[in-house]
Amino acid sequence: MLVVDLGGQYSQLIARRVREARVYSELIGHQAPAATLRARNPAALILSGGPASVYAEGAPKVDPGIFELGVPVLGICYGMQLMAQELGGRVERTGASEFGKAALRLRGALGQGLSEEQTAWMSHRDSVTAPPQGATVTADSPSTPIAGFEAPERGLYGVQFHPEVVHTPHGQDVLKNFLYGVARARPAWTPAAVIEEQVERIRAQVGRERVLCALSGGVDSAVAAVLVHKAVGDQLTCVFVDHGLLRKNEAAQVVETFEGHFHIPLVHVDAEERFLARLEGVTDPEEKRRRVGEEFIRVFEEEAEGLGQTTFLVQGTLYSDVIESGGTEGVAAKIKSHHNVGGLPDDMTMELVEPLRSLFKDEVRRVGEELGLSEPMVWRHPFPGPGLSIRIIGDVTRERLEILREADAILLEEVRRAGLYRELWQCFCVLPAIRSVGVQGDERTYGYPVVVRAVTSEDAMTADWARLPYDLLETVSSRVVNEIPAVNRVVLDVTSKPPSTIEWE
Ligand code: XMP
Repeated sequence: MLVVDLGGQYSQLIARRVREARVYSELIGHQAPAATLRARNPAALILSGGPASVYAEGAPKVDPGIFELGVPVLGICYGMQLMAQELGGRVERTGASEFGKAALRLRGALGQGLSEEQTAWMSHRDSVTAPPQGATVTADSPSTPIAGFEAPERGLYGVQFHPEVVHTPHGQDVLKNFLYGVARARPAWTPAAVIEEQVERIRAQVGRERVLCALSGGVDSAVAAVLVHKAVGDQLTCVFVDHGLLRKNEAAQVVETFEGHFHIPLVHVDAEERFLARLEGVTDPEEKRRRVGEEFIRVFEEEAEGLGQTTFLVQGTLYSDVIESGGTEGVAAKIKSHHNVGGLPDDMTMELVEPLRSLFKDEVRRVGEELGLSEPMVWRHPFPGPGLSIRIIGDVTRERLEILREADAILLEEVRRAGLYRELWQCFCVLPAIRSVGVQGDERTYGYPVVVRAVTSEDAMTADWARLPYDLLETVSSRVVNEIPAVNRVVLDVTSKPPSTIEWE
């Protein structure tokens, strides 16, 4: 399935939803000529929404030839309006804008098996006032008489609402009706199928050469490594640069998982001393990032050299990275907020193996589960490359790292116990290196505060502070101050992003 990106904020989400229905989908830019789309041999096309009006100057258009490929086309929101405009219908600014939930009546092939009365998410100013020639109107809402059309013999389908967002409760069913019922696609895109396909590809690419993989402790590099190992066995060596800035027990878990469980050759470099020496006296966040990144490369290069001639390097690039870097045909690059620290040197001459290049994060997790990686490894929250160094506000010292690690471990343990871990995007402690006065027993104390930071988010671009239950916060607070003598105060960060960022540095 190809999702033609017309610039809407939900284009990626549409591709993800299609894959959740177990049909493989990719984004493609709207400038792509029909011949390029034909060459990909899609089962169907979906035209995404877009921010523009079809009449606006420079409004995104498609090659009209894409309607002649002989495969069904579903237009969503702007995509539907563009179809109407291109194919003999009409689009107008009727004055009846619709934003938010709307009561919808839905019929036709897309409404198959669903009740006619639906709730749907709308977001449009223009409306289709005449459907394409030969199409019948199959959906309406109080302010939008043409909220959907179908011309089955021409393979044209349009919906004004957004089936891909959660605010359209039966949206996924509408998409499935299009995928299975109209386009006759089969739900064959499963984690097992992904593994099988990738194993074959990796074998074909690597042959009998040696492969190197840098493990970070995160889910992406872990899944990539296990996949490559499944494909080429002990031709793979993993290098785990332990910078001493990881969370409690994390390094041990990596060693246990790879060496103990999967028997993957692993070089574990305990480089804590080196990193701490490089960070001594550094308080500026960007300088911390720079030094950790630089040292990481240095250590990795030294280890790689020691391993002799290696042709291939595994990288856990995800499909969202490919999209963000403009690596998909015609899809505009979005600005990436962070270059990944823990990234590898630009001048490395090894050829890249990127087995996760076509996967979204949630798919990586499902593949990880299928490969037998443990739950904590697969569902681990995102963790910054510079690790705890940017969660200590001030100098990074061994003592402060110890305090932060203990506090963080208590928080995570309690959040897991409350069953909330997977609902949160990230949840961690921050240690500002300031002290405040407290009293414990009969004694005055002068200790560190610990900040609890927990957020919900879809993609880290925006985030909301998580409303953790008071009982949970109380337990965390009392455990932290009782179990960590250097801490005498626990505070909660109640700011969203924007205006704050998720991390404190
Ligand atoms: P902010 O703090 O900008 O973070 O809201 C957004 C997401 O990026 C992660 N993050 C980093 N990841 N290297 C990384 O690999 C970094 O230097 C870095 N800084 C922030 C952060 O944890 C969140 O998921």
